[in-house]
Order: sequence, then C-alpha cells, then structure tokens
Amino acid sequence: MKFFIDTANLDEIREAASIGILDGVTTNPTLISREKGEPKEIFKAICEIVDGPVSAEAVSLDWEGMVKEGRELAKIHSNIVVKIPMTKDGLKAVKQLAEEGIRTNVTLIFSPIQALLAARAGASFVSPFVGRLDDIATEGMQLVEQIQQIFENYDITTEIIVASIRHTMHVVETALIGADIATIPFKVIEQMMKHPLTDKGIDSFLKDWEQVKNR
Ligand code: E4P
Repeated sequence: MKFFIDTANLDEIREAASIGILDGVTTNPTLISREKGEPKEIFKAICEIVDGPVSAEAVSLDWEGMVKEGRELAKIHSNIVVKIPMTKDGLKAVKQLAEEGIRTNVTLIFSPIQALLAARAGASFVSPFVGRLDDIATEGMQLVEQIQQIFENYDITTEIIVASIRHTMHVVETALIGADIATIPFKVIEQMMKHPLTDKGIDSFLKDWEQVKNR
C-alpha cells in the first residue's frame, strides 16, 4: 500500500518524506487556503520535495474550464495529477485530459458507481471520502470495499486513494481491504508511529541501562 500525505504544508510534507514512507501528496482548495503563497508556487515546491503524484485541484465547474485549468496545472511539473470533482462536467474533463495524457484524480466520491464512472472516463485515481461518510453515520470503509471489488471484477487499473482519513484504524482497514493508497493527514501519520507500550518499553530499557552505566 502506498502512503500519500493529505496536506499542502511544506514542513509537514518534508517531515513525512524524511521518514521514508511518502509516495505522493493530495491537496484541495481548503488545504491550500491554509498556506501562504501562490497555489502554483506551492504545487511546484511540493513536487520538488516528493517524487510521486501530487494532486492539484481544478476549481472550475464547467468541463472546458476544468480542462483549461488541468492543462495549466500539468505544466507546473510532471508529478502533477489534476484533481477533478465527481460531476458530469468533471467526467467530460477527465476524458479529455486522459486523451491528452494528463493524469486525473476524481475527488468527492461517495458511491461505488461514481468510482466506476470515473474509472471508465479515464481517471488515473479515484478518491472515496471515508471520514465524511462516517460523519453522517454511514460506514465509509464499506464504500472502499465495494470499489475495490468492482475494480477487481473488471481488472480496472485506476488506483483507489482512500481519502478523508480521520484516524489510524482507517489506514489499517485500507491495508486490509488492499486498496492502493491511503492519503493521510500529518497528525494521523504521527499517531501511526505511536504505541504506549513502545514508550513504556523505551523508558524501562533506559532506566535499566542507567544501572549498567553505573557499574
Ligand atoms: C483528499 O484528497 C481530500 O483532500 C481530503 O482527504 C478531504 O478530507 P476531509 O474530509 O478531512 O476534508
């Protein structure tokens, strides 16, 4: 399973990259709005840190606008993947961009059929949002299971990015299902490394080592 980070913060991206587990980055307009600077410069800086897919979202609602934005975004760096919302116009844009060899990540996927449509239109990635489904008392990971099954049924090569991850169990379930990618907020990446028994173990080993040193 590949690990992406879901942030536009360069410090968080550098820190996650330094652990040696970072395969890509997803951003969205909200995440970009939290950072200083021009979006184009932020995307460029991210691509210079991470050698993997970096999702940059188009904000037009009409497909011609999305295609125009997609072409501009793709020019920034070869790592850029154009994030397109799951709408009818979005699918038209995905088809056009795929024909031009520009990779897309169809975002805001909340049903398995949306994922299938996006894949058939030519998306390189689909992003089911599990946390936002959990928020409305629906089992988010069930959506991932269904998409995974459908893609397996038809040997679809579109990669599944499990998005809107809220906690480490979402990441564990992603791995158990066998989805391709989890895009994870920095806070959750930090939680993934932690276990109270690890901390307790380090404490007691160091305490015992003090006795060895004082021999
Ligand atoms: C994914 O690409 C999105 O940026 C993200 O996972 C959205 O998550 P949220 O529901 O925490 O905003």
